[in-house]
Amino acid sequence: MNLHTYAKLHTHSKRGIVKKHPHDHDPKVNLRTCTMSKTVVLVTGGTGLVGKGIEAVVGRENNTGESWFFAGSKDGDLRDGVACRALFERVKPTHVIHLAAKVGGLYNNMKHNVQFYRENTQINDHVMECSKDFKVQKLVSIMSTCIFPNKITYPIDETMLHKGPPHDSNSGYSYAKRMIDVMSRAYNQQYGCNFTTVIPTNIYGPHDNFNLQEGHVIPGLMHKCMLAKKNGTDFVVWGSGTPLRQFIYSEDLAELIVWVMRSYDSCDPIILSVGEEEECSIADVARNIAKAFDFKGNLVFDTDKADGQFKKTASNAKLKKLNPSYKFTTIEEGLSKTVKWFENNFDTCRK
Ligand SMILES: NC(=O)c1ccc[n+]([C@@H]2O[C@H](COP(=O)([O-])OP(=O)(O)OC[C@H]3O[C@@H](n4cnc5c(N)ncnc54)[C@H](OP(=O)(O)O)[C@@H]3O)[C@@H](O)[C@H]2O)c1
Repeated sequence: MNLHTYAKLHTHSKRGIVKKHPHDHDPKVNLRTCTMSKTVVLVTGGTGLVGKGIEAVVGRENNTGESWFFAGSKDGDLRDGVACRALFERVKPTHVIHLAAKVGGLYNNMKHNVQFYRENTQINDHVMECSKDFKVQKLVSIMSTCIFPNKITYPIDETMLHKGPPHDSNSGYSYAKRMIDVMSRAYNQQYGCNFTTVIPTNIYGPHDNFNLQEGHVIPGLMHKCMLAKKNGTDFVVWGSGTPLRQFIYSEDLAELIVWVMRSYDSCDPIILSVGEEEECSIADVARNIAKAFDFKGNLVFDTDKADGQFKKTASNAKLKKLNPSYKFTTIEEGLSKTVKWFENNFDTCRK
């Protein structure tokens, strides 16, 4: 049986995730009772932007001998150590891709640094300790380029993570995320665990959070542009539009994370990003979004609003050396696909 069938058919019940077997009369079949594969991958944060990207990517593959389990917070609140252990008991993963986190945009981070620090630290602590206790063969956890030092030379590379304090705006999130690297190394050193980390740049794609207050820049701009088109108003971008960012399409990142899980064996982090030459301004992103929506009104920059870090250019030299043939989706294509998804799923998406 193609084990990805399970991944595609998984559904939630009040008792947590269950998997539908196409030939079973009782659709609520526990994952462990129907999984025959040796490799069982638990994806924490499996219902979010990146998790959905991974689900799409592995759903397109055949006969990998892997069984995939995508867990959201309804399957266990990972801030709670008991709930985290119960999830591991249920899934008994051989591999874990750890994405679950309290995630938010600049303005949300600025207001809630304490919550971003505490909740992410709790989640990461529980997932790592369970991964050790359940003898997980490989744990891949995710950090972010926005946690690098504020004052730094560019391009950023993997060796610079702890060489100075992060930007004040998201210090809670950043320090909690940096501890993933510290603790992965400590688990490797003390217990011989195969824990590694990846560092993506800004991610966007289908299933993002399009909420105007809490979302990241791209989904926020898409929602604003849609409203501006609908209401015949200006498309107002917060800030000057000049900051530069490297954006990665969620399914590209998903492919690279799966590649890391299968092929990258080092506790040193690896930056997963498009090249430095692909860096683009927020203004360019906004123009591309306006084009994808066929928005004909005015594009306005509200310079009274904060810009955040001007740039945080990251080097993908290590990735290019280890995986030289990987081809990224262009920003125009990725934005256009995401706008289409947002329009088609407006009623049900996070917003
Ligand atoms: N988005 C970016 O631009 C970006 C950039 C760099 C790094 N990252 C990192 O990438 C990872 C995935 O981000 P994303 O953009 O996919 O986030 P997202 O769409 O907001 O998804 C977050 C995921 O975490 C789960 N989650 C949150 N709190 C939880 C809790 N207390 N217990 C269990 N699960 C919980 C959510 O579950 P429910 O939805 O079911 O509640 C959801 O599946 C995060 O670690 C983030 O820090 C993101």
